[in-house]
Amino acid sequence: MLIDQFGRQITYLRVSVTDRCNFRCVYCMPPEGIERQPHDSIMRYEEIAEVVRVAAAEGVREVRLTGGEPLARLGLPGLVRMISETPGIEDIGLTTNGALLEQYAPALAEAGLKRINVSLDTLRPERFARITRGGSLDTVWRGIETAEAAGLAPIKINVVVMRGVNDDELVEMARLTVERAWHVRFIEIMPVNNQQTWGEGFPDPANTFMSISEIQEQLRGLELEPCEKKSGSGPAREFAIPGGKGRVGFISPISDHFCGECNRLRLTADGNLRPCLLSDLEIPLLPALRRGEPLLPILQQAVGIKPLGHELAHNHRPEGRCMIQIGG
Ligand code: 5AD
Ligand code: SF4
Repeated sequence: MLIDQFGRQITYLRVSVTDRCNFRCVYCMPPEGIERQPHDSIMRYEEIAEVVRVAAAEGVREVRLTGGEPLARLGLPGLVRMISETPGIEDIGLTTNGALLEQYAPALAEAGLKRINVSLDTLRPERFARITRGGSLDTVWRGIETAEAAGLAPIKINVVVMRGVNDDELVEMARLTVERAWHVRFIEIMPVNNQQTWGEGFPDPANTFMSISEIQEQLRGLELEPCEKKSGSGPAREFAIPGGKGRVGFISPISDHFCGECNRLRLTADGNLRPCLLSDLEIPLLPALRRGEPLLPILQQAVGIKPLGHELAHNHRPEGRCMIQIGG
């Protein structure tokens, strides 16, 4: 088993399969983009599957594929199949911007994918295009509907809340759960290499943070009721609109962090183990993998340096990678 020095067992592996994306969300990457990793430094699918196999033998039960945009990498259903056939893995999820879901959702479901989280910060097409620097809300919406029809459930919608950008439509977004069995989750924005200006018409990034309690205050009129049972191992606190089919969740990495229950380890697309999203600490794995050396000691080493929690409150921010290179 993989247990860290604070007694937390690692059961969840987040795998970034690419640092590329077909969107360029303002809070995720700088406008000029980031330097791409050379092809050869990106893990091959077989290599990722090997890491998953070793992790699963040590108690990892859940894998989530992230990016960049994971569907921007060709052949993703093939990786999903390899992971779903790995003994010990009980759950595979995908976090996506949805742009290619219409095309891939049926093949992903068929390959063994269970669930998707779609990033969707606004319901207004023009605003969507500005936040994503060019994305089409219409395409994403069709993608979500295709995924739902393909049986991927529950559909989770991730909303990064930004004051002065999308904070005027939170009620509308929460109300999506009245008619649909979707989970709409509001996320506090994290300062991960995204404090440079976002471009014309956007507020100063430093002023966009809104705490979950402020967000909940805005939703007071909906009379949200807490859900008895959580729908997974994640950090969301879940509620429902009375009579609604779906759920409304809140993820507060900043104001009320959940580091104490963290069960995760991350694998970057270029083959580094990253024990904490919000710390630059990483352990390289790919060179050893390519030399055919055992991986378990490297996994144990990464788990061994997992920090107790992030230190954003003391102004220690990650400065190495930006979010597109970590995968959230
Ligand atoms: N703060 C909070 N959430 C973020 N995401 C990306 N960047 C940030 C940030 N700075 C979200 C994306 C996606 C998930 C992987 O993380 O919207 O849903
Ligand atoms: Fe791409 Fe997701 Fe980052 Fe947006 S948040 S640029 S969709 S990786």
